[in-house]
Amino acid sequence: MTTQKYVQFFRETSPYIHAHRGKTFVIAMSGEAVLDANFDSIVHDIALMQSLGVNIVLVHGARPQIDQRLQLAGLQSDFREQVRITDASAMQCVKEAVGSTRFQIESALSMGLPNSPMHGARVRVIGGNFITAKPVGIREGVDFQRAGEIRRIDRTAIQQQLEAGALVLMSSIGFSPTGEAFNLSYQDVATQTAIALRAEKLILVTEAAGIIDADNNLQRNLSLPQVSDLKATLKHADGQDSATYSLLSAAYQACRNNVDRVHLVGCSEDGSLLSELFTREGSGTLIMQDHSEVIRAATIDDVGGILDLISPLEQQGILVKRSRELLETEISRFMLVVHPEGTLLGCAALYPIADSAAGELACVATHPEFHNQGIASRLLKSIEQDAIENQLKTLFVLTTQTAHWFREQGFAEAAVSELPAEKQSLYNYQRQSRIFSKKL
Ligand SMILES: CC(C)(COP(=O)(O)OP(=O)(O)OC[C@H]1O[C@@H](n2cnc3c(N)ncnc32)[C@H](O)[C@@H]1OP(=O)(O)O)[C@@H](O)C(=O)NCCC(=O)NCCS
Repeated sequence: MTTQKYVQFFRETSPYIHAHRGKTFVIAMSGEAVLDANFDSIVHDIALMQSLGVNIVLVHGARPQIDQRLQLAGLQSDFREQVRITDASAMQCVKEAVGSTRFQIESALSMGLPNSPMHGARVRVIGGNFITAKPVGIREGVDFQRAGEIRRIDRTAIQQQLEAGALVLMSSIGFSPTGEAFNLSYQDVATQTAIALRAEKLILVTEAAGIIDADNNLQRNLSLPQVSDLKATLKHADGQDSATYSLLSAAYQACRNNVDRVHLVGCSEDGSLLSELFTREGSGTLIMQDHSEVIRAATIDDVGGILDLISPLEQQGILVKRSRELLETEISRFMLVVHPEGTLLGCAALYPIADSAAGELACVATHPEFHNQGIASRLLKSIEQDAIENQLKTLFVLTTQTAHWFREQGFAEAAVSELPAEKQSLYNYQRQSRIFSKKL
């Protein structure tokens, strides 16, 4: 990377650095992620995030490590709905495997060799009896023995450690008031901790790169209703035992309980954590708390709703007039934000400009009763994502009254001569619109 490109890249990450500083992220790392060849890099990236001011709670699993210990001890254990039936001998293996995995993570976080990314990091790792557990008990006649559930998370104690600048490392073992240790699901620990801390993010680092759909495409964003539908499909297809099902359940539970964003990130791709959190493109799947809306492409049935929304703005001269016929022809260009009950909250259109790698953003409007709730910003993000997927490099917008809003969204003023030829010839000098552009 040339110095100039590096500087540009570093500057582009700054909005994320500012946004994440002082926020609490709970990162759940599966036992498989700890075994992955990329493990050291993940730990380095976590240390880097902490030095950028993010409060980090790291929760680790140890399923393959436990399996290995059990095998060495000649023991077997069964699962019911992803819960390991843990007898006393198995619990011994759980303690050994969890303990040694924990030490492996602590060692990696303690690295500090010169010429390594950890030089000068000085991460202070803290753990403790933050989780009160209770036995799962007997279900449908099966005694789960030392398999446990979370009863309480000591939010204050964790918060104090974060405020003191420590990285809190939590393992998947909890203790009951009777003084016994219980084997917990690390995803549960992470989810309940994120909820208890009211964390800004829960990040699940797992073997899969995120949620992959039936056509083998990575799902970049999922709304809560989509997660719910996916869970129902999976439950029907594989029962509740698939790893994806339990990831989606964790994400769903966290989002329903006021964790705003859950990220699913793959452990094997180098830098996936940083690119998910510090770039616009991301690398995994983002599941967002329900904003009570869906962003989707418009269909012919939406023409009436769009006309209702934009006609008053056309009359005020804020938007260029479009006839119903034109709108019907161009409907596929429109993206909408729609309330689950069907109200149209906002619209925007993307027109690719012929013979160029540029597009024109047009007809951006939010329903007047829903202004200042980030609707247009979210719509713009989605349009930009679309434009990137369609290999567009630049977005142009022409505006008479909304220049400042576009500037705040990262657009910069441009001259007529910077417009692609096709657009220049159509520029209306009477309307005197200002031109803005944004590099994608
Ligand atoms: C511009 C518009 C689309 C923004 O919609 P929105 O969903 O309210 O936007 P967001 O919630 O993402 O952003 C709101 C922020 O932008 C600011 N903003 C809104 N209109 C603005 C304008 N014309 N100039 C500068 N800032 C503006 C708000 O004050 C708010 O800032 P704050 O969060 O600091 O209070 C909406 O005001 C609208 O429909 N305007 C009329 C149509 C229009 O001008 N379209 C552009 C045509 S090119």
